[in-house]
Amino acid sequence: MQRTIVFMKHCCFVLIAMCCYLIAGAQQKELTNQVKEQLILEGSEQAIVLQVEINGDLNMVYLGPKLLHSSDYRRLASQYKQADDYTGMYRAAYTGSGSRNLLEPAISVRHADGNQSLDLKYLNHEFITVNHNIGELRVLLKDALYPFEVDLHYRIYQKENVIEQWATIRHHEKGAVELVKYSSANLNLKADNFWLKHYHGDWIKEMQPEEEKLTHGIKTIDSKLGTRANLFQHSSFLLSFNGPAKEDEGSVLIGGLAWSGNFKIDFEKDPQDNLRILAGINNYASTYILQKNEEFITPKFVYTISDQGIGNASRNLHNWARRYQLLDGGGSRLTLLNNWEATYFDFNEDKLSSLLKDTKKLGVDLFLLDDGWFGNKYPRNSDTAALGDWEENREKLPNGLVSLVKEAASNGVKFGIWVEPEMVSPKSELYEKHPDWVVKQEGRPEYYFRNQLVLDLSNPKVQDFVFKTLDDLFVKNPGLAYVKWDCNAVIYNAYSPYLKSQGNFYVDYVKGLYAVLERIRAKYPRIPMMLCSGGGGRVDYGALRYFTEYWPSDNTDPLERIFMQYEYSFFYPTLASANHVTDWGDQPIKFKVDVAMMGKLGFDIVVSKLPKEDLAFCQQALKTYDELKPIIWQGDQFRLANPREKDYASILYVNENRDSGVIFNYLVNYRQNTGTPVPIKFKGLDPVKSYRLEEINLYNGESSLINPGETYTGDFLMKVGFNPYLSSKRKSVVLKLTAVS
Ligand code: DGJ
Repeated sequence: MQRTIVFMKHCCFVLIAMCCYLIAGAQQKELTNQVKEQLILEGSEQAIVLQVEINGDLNMVYLGPKLLHSSDYRRLASQYKQADDYTGMYRAAYTGSGSRNLLEPAISVRHADGNQSLDLKYLNHEFITVNHNIGELRVLLKDALYPFEVDLHYRIYQKENVIEQWATIRHHEKGAVELVKYSSANLNLKADNFWLKHYHGDWIKEMQPEEEKLTHGIKTIDSKLGTRANLFQHSSFLLSFNGPAKEDEGSVLIGGLAWSGNFKIDFEKDPQDNLRILAGINNYASTYILQKNEEFITPKFVYTISDQGIGNASRNLHNWARRYQLLDGGGSRLTLLNNWEATYFDFNEDKLSSLLKDTKKLGVDLFLLDDGWFGNKYPRNSDTAALGDWEENREKLPNGLVSLVKEAASNGVKFGIWVEPEMVSPKSELYEKHPDWVVKQEGRPEYYFRNQLVLDLSNPKVQDFVFKTLDDLFVKNPGLAYVKWDCNAVIYNAYSPYLKSQGNFYVDYVKGLYAVLERIRAKYPRIPMMLCSGGGGRVDYGALRYFTEYWPSDNTDPLERIFMQYEYSFFYPTLASANHVTDWGDQPIKFKVDVAMMGKLGFDIVVSKLPKEDLAFCQQALKTYDELKPIIWQGDQFRLANPREKDYASILYVNENRDSGVIFNYLVNYRQNTGTPVPIKFKGLDPVKSYRLEEINLYNGESSLINPGETYTGDFLMKVGFNPYLSSKRKSVVLKLTAVS
């Protein structure tokens, strides 16, 4: 029997069910010899087909573009024969271990009696309509011998073409079961060859891409850092089929694990040339003890596939994120002035008063007070003390934050604050009072990362403390309008004085973190919060459910940022990218502002030291940004030129009606005679519309090489293109696109 569920826009479930019934009837005869049943989940562009074999195995036999005729999926049964597959495990939808499977398992357990085998068989399934746009297939698998079960979840966002996969694991054995490995997803893909683009990095060097052809065996991307899990490797990746990834053509899969802790993603090219992707929490030092009748719900593995290249796949993810994942993804953001690089730890009320005035003068919405405002017994005058002692330092701020928040309001700006609530300094009152709240191995030397240690968030008392830190700030300062949540240390000496099973630690830490964030969001659902981890050490879709934006990197040299922002743009929508203009880099202010505008604009400069002309430029640019930000934040993004392939980068944002757009063009190679020798072809426009192109963000009084009166058809701009005339004298050019007919 074949079951299909197609989530049509605005169609009603009854109608779907009737269609399925008709299809199922037509397929039954042809499938019975080989396959018991096919379970088909379709979005508007993609489809997953699972197959229940006669012996009860559940296989993933298709993940790819949706077929025109649902009846064609039955052909899959004959295209991939079981005869090629000695044990029937190559295409398992969730591969167990210790039985007939000898490939990398999705799940591996030690039963209550010590036995290590698992062989999961199909028991039942259901299609769930979450709403008109979201459908979910849930399949229950059960071990043939043990009372051990796994629910596989496949959730599809029809319009956005995004799939979330996760597993719910439970058992009814006599004692506890050890989960040795517990992936979120196990995908099986077929192609002649596969190319993987993945990311490595470090502090001020985030999102460095590498692309390679996958060979037989296993390629793994993973993290064992615990907290800043994405610092060395990023948990999102780009996979392309039959050649390196291309922007507008070819089949690609973009995916990532929505989890802010250790992750492990294995890409196994098996002897049959299938590519098996096993994505989930890293089981490194994490054999998880699961008690009888408890449930273990894995994080979601989020992905989209496209047969029109990575541009389309990115837009899928951006749309999904803005609508369903990123906090307030459809909303607005605050421009701000941050004082980190302007003052570091050295400030007092007078200095801050003048910064508040500068905030207003510059024309941004909010002043963000960074690190250094707290600690009395051990004042926070450097990064060596006071984390955990979240009380205003009485010398620096004798009148407390309350007076600053009020003063900000009287200056007509909002006020935000920096915190790093998961951390503790060895030199702090908190550590003196609660040494048992700290992650460390008794009897071993303490190892510090940025002179600090991590609090044990698996402990509910610590969770209460972290929640209270934030809650107190909001309660005492009702006008507080923004939080920057930092996380600067990785976990050394992983050990929880609270937990009985140390194998649960890394997982329960993240669960504890999410529990705190849930509580904060339940009480303060809309306060904007920046996700920072000494830069981009923790940018992932698990965390972004609670945050409105992320800090890509402490490296704010605009030239470096062009490359990083470009890479982040594959996965995350631009309104989530906090881009600040700082003193990093020796480029003129125009270049810095132009680069920071490609996202959520902010500043971290000494406004009073800006030359008059530079200040005037920034003030004007902020007004321009105000007008354009709806397009940059909510429009569709089209990458026109990749800075790693050309001497320049070019990115276009266009609104849904295709009548307004912005194009950012940046020169990235400053050698002689570089520039844009040929026009840059636009994308995503309406070919029959005429557009006026106008250069904006011109530095005071400078004239443009581009005639603002000229109009071009969308057809011309997409087929021939437009030359922004980048050169060593025009290193960045921002163009505004307006449809005139
Ligand atoms: C690391 C962050 O990335 C910086 O922006 C700043 O907030 C410092 N921490 C403060 O300690």
